[in-house]
Amino acid sequence: MIIKQDISAVGKPFIKWAGGKGKLVSQLDEFLPENLGRHAFTYVEPFVGGGAMLFHMLQKYPNIKRVVINDINPYLTIAYRVVKENPEELINRLLKLANEYYALSGEEAQKTFFLDVRTIFNSEKLDDIDRTKYLIFLNRTCFNGLYRVNGKGHFNVPFGKYAHPTICNADVIRADSALLNSTEVVILNGDFEETINYLDEQGANFFYFDPPYRPLSATSSFTSYAKEDFNDEEQIRLRDFCQRLNGHLGIRWMLSNADCSAKNPEDRFFEENYRDFFISRVYASRSINANPSKRGKLTELLISNYRPEGYIEIAAEDVEPYNRAI
Ligand SMILES: C[S@@+](CC[C@H](N)C(=O)[O-])C[C@H]1O[C@@H](n2cnc3c(N)ncnc32)[C@H](O)[C@@H]1O
Repeated sequence: MIIKQDISAVGKPFIKWAGGKGKLVSQLDEFLPENLGRHAFTYVEPFVGGGAMLFHMLQKYPNIKRVVINDINPYLTIAYRVVKENPEELINRLLKLANEYYALSGEEAQKTFFLDVRTIFNSEKLDDIDRTKYLIFLNRTCFNGLYRVNGKGHFNVPFGKYAHPTICNADVIRADSALLNSTEVVILNGDFEETINYLDEQGANFFYFDPPYRPLSATSSFTSYAKEDFNDEEQIRLRDFCQRLNGHLGIRWMLSNADCSAKNPEDRFFEENYRDFFISRVYASRSINANPSKRGKLTELLISNYRPEGYIEIAAEDVEPYNRAI
């Protein structure tokens, strides 16, 4: 059998992740520092998630000499390691599991299979390749590709009822693996602040932060990626970290977050906490929302400690009122 390499697959995330930046990458790219491509640098992504920006950076900037990625989700970081080190074995095992699933007739049988896999994932000791195989399987077959855990840290997203989901995209896994092997890549599983211990002390470092977003309103909260909630105190701890990078270390960074003041003009959380930096607004369509009528265009904030090219200050009051309508 001839396996055709799908060029368009190159560099897309191997996992769907809430808040994934796939659709926003080209916009984010415009806000990167102008001269980033000129010299060797270390790229640090402390909240890597699905890694849409990471894979974009690895393709666009051959001058990245080192990458440091981190996420608090242990299974996600295991998955990055497996994709990097054992892509072929992962593909073999995932294809086998996918074929078992496709052979089942009817939604009920598929749902039972899904629930069995979920139980195995939550209760059994697994080797890293099986752990990643089940993680990707659940990601492709669960509701909306969410990753959510209960108080015990157990994955609890319900069955997604998709007729024929792509469970194993071998081209994407191979392409991501090649990118993760194209330079030195350090994969960490911990709190975002730990990335500071992996800086290149002699050379340049660039940080992109995509933390769990601050909820736009009490009802729209989706913050449970992990057992630990990312509340306002955590957002401020992140701001302090950004200030530290800026002040003492002179490191450039860019950060994404929700545009809270566009939704509620009285909510000046980001304007106040990041008043010393550059706040830009970009339009983003959010695809992970249980309610399809809420999958529209929202503005998101891009905050940086350098002036992005073509930076125009747009006040929250001047963005489309769509934000306030939802
Ligand atoms: C918005 S997602 C990142 C989305 C990602 N950039 C993408 O494109 O898919 C936020 C990530 O932060 C992780 N996270 C939550 N709290 C954290 C912490 N204290 N330190 C590091 N990572 C954390 C979550 O597990 C989640 O994967």
